[in-house]
Amino acid sequence: MLGVSSLTPSGSRVAAELEALSGFRDDAIAGWTREVFTDPYRESREWVQNEMRAAGLEVHVDAAGNIIGRLAGTAPGAPAIITGSHTDTVTAGGRFDGAVGVLGGIETARRLQEEGIRLTHDLIVIDFLGEEPNEFGLGCLGSRTLAGHLTSSDLDRVNGYGVSLGERYSGFGLDPGAAIAADWARNTAIHGYVELHIEQGPTLEQRGIPVGIVTAIAGIERLVTTFRGRADHAGTRDMDSRQDAMVAAAQAVLAVRREGCSAPVHGVATTTQVHSLTDSPNVIPSLVTMHSEIRSIDASWLSGTRRRLAEEIQASAQASGVDVEFDWTHDNDVVEAARDVQDIAGAAATEIGVPWMPIPSGATHDAVHMAHLTRMGMIFIPSRDGRSHCPEEWTQIEDITTGIRVLSGTILRMDAD
Ligand code: GLV
Ligand code: MN
Ligand code: MN
Repeated sequence: MLGVSSLTPSGSRVAAELEALSGFRDDAIAGWTREVFTDPYRESREWVQNEMRAAGLEVHVDAAGNIIGRLAGTAPGAPAIITGSHTDTVTAGGRFDGAVGVLGGIETARRLQEEGIRLTHDLIVIDFLGEEPNEFGLGCLGSRTLAGHLTSSDLDRVNGYGVSLGERYSGFGLDPGAAIAADWARNTAIHGYVELHIEQGPTLEQRGIPVGIVTAIAGIERLVTTFRGRADHAGTRDMDSRQDAMVAAAQAVLAVRREGCSAPVHGVATTTQVHSLTDSPNVIPSLVTMHSEIRSIDASWLSGTRRRLAEEIQASAQASGVDVEFDWTHDNDVVEAARDVQDIAGAAATEIGVPWMPIPSGATHDAVHMAHLTRMGMIFIPSRDGRSHCPEEWTQIEDITTGIRVLSGTILRMDAD
């Protein structure tokens, strides 16, 4: 190691960048909205590239739409250390989810140069394309592609207006055929991947601990359930002989919640949408769709929950004469963080006197896909009131600078190992 174990970032510089980035937003929507493929996102990506260049990184956008900034190391051909995250948001989201990891990587590169430190390995900072699930129900587009996980049937997915994901790529100036083949990282030697991110939950704040070292990232299974009942007059059909698809869906919503409430370790279950195709207030609903997801770091709980939900929803719907169809999609497996990256990040925090704790991630991240390419680790910092994916999302700048110090310490240690 070069006698430096971490770098002190400039809090005011990072705060100003966060403010500037959050100015790229869709002001027709409440909160901080910069969704993938939209104009604010396109404009913000120009800004990100300029920030990277100003920080001394060589910048290009790969065919998958990832913004890649590279700081050359002293050993040509040595495997690269990669860090990064994303700058898209959910609808009406916050200012910190993803942005902190991209800006933390840029600040680390800038501080290395300001201190005249050259890493042996290249340092690559990536702003991955479209991490948040979009109108096609698929997130982590850029990192998924790097890991070779984006398929042509993914590109054929259509949104509610019949537009395909592939068409969205084209409209954004990306060639979908080239994008799908942009798995350069699979043929590139990588020394390790580490991502700084806000926790997006309450644990660190509640315990008063400034840093979490991620142990594992939850697997995600998504379910679309279709309920088919029978349309009848809502004023005349007696309550006992109805085949009400909405009532079957309501029971299913509660069944999904019960599963989450009874998870023995980290496990959550959420229904996000229920749609009825019945517009009239005087007709018993005959066709209802429901969107749910389950997440856990316990793969056996996920598979058990899939089975139990199918049985329970089917049985309660059948009891009221409603047919059910299930369409499960698997978003990502449970992914463990590499033991040695956890140890390196923990040592980097300890060395600068920062208390830390091991923590599972219920949110998903680009790190899930990077874990298929190299050893992966994540560093979490507190979220105020545990709020995230909402306009109130907030992390103190002091916590962000602590996180960047641990990130840079981890990168320096990885460089030396
Ligand atoms: C992304 O933030 C997710 O966890 O779905
Ligand atoms: Mn995120
Ligand atoms: Mn998110």
